[in-house]
Amino acid sequence: MHSNYICSFSSCYYDKEETLYPGSACDSSTTTFGAIVLPIISSNCNSCHGGNTPSAGIALDTYAGVKTQVDNGKLWGAISQSAAYSPMPKNGTKLSACNLAKIKKWIDAGAPNN
Ligand code: HEC
Repeated sequence: MHSNYICSFSSCYYDKEETLYPGSACDSSTTTFGAIVLPIISSNCNSCHGGNTPSAGIALDTYAGVKTQVDNGKLWGAISQSAAYSPMPKNGTKLSACNLAKIKKWIDAGAPNN
């Protein structure tokens, strides 16, 4: 179950992310690609960015596909909804502060295939 890996009411605790995201219980300490980042992307993005004809030619269902968008700056630009990028998920709700924190931490660690 992907949801087991996503910050949930039962599995979260307060740590230093609380300072950055007041009011949210968020544990980004064990962020990995396979257990954390890919499940978030699968459930929020891959209805459009998966399969044989991904939106905008951007495939996010493999590590290589995601890494390409990390390296060109578009992944973080789109999900943090920075002005120069097309906000993602398109026509959807912005990812939670906790999920953004987890993805940011993974990107800042060099976006390893872990
Ligand atoms: C409803 C379909 C849909 C969903 C869901 C969606 N995207 Fe997109 N995405 C698109 C389309 C279409 C484009 C092409 C640009 C546009 O039309 O805004 C795009 C463009 C992008 C771009 C390029 C942005 C740029 O400024 O060049 C990135 C990166 C991206 N998506 C990542 C994601 C991520 C990560 C998620 C999930 C958090 C996501 N998308 C969810 C349809 C979607």
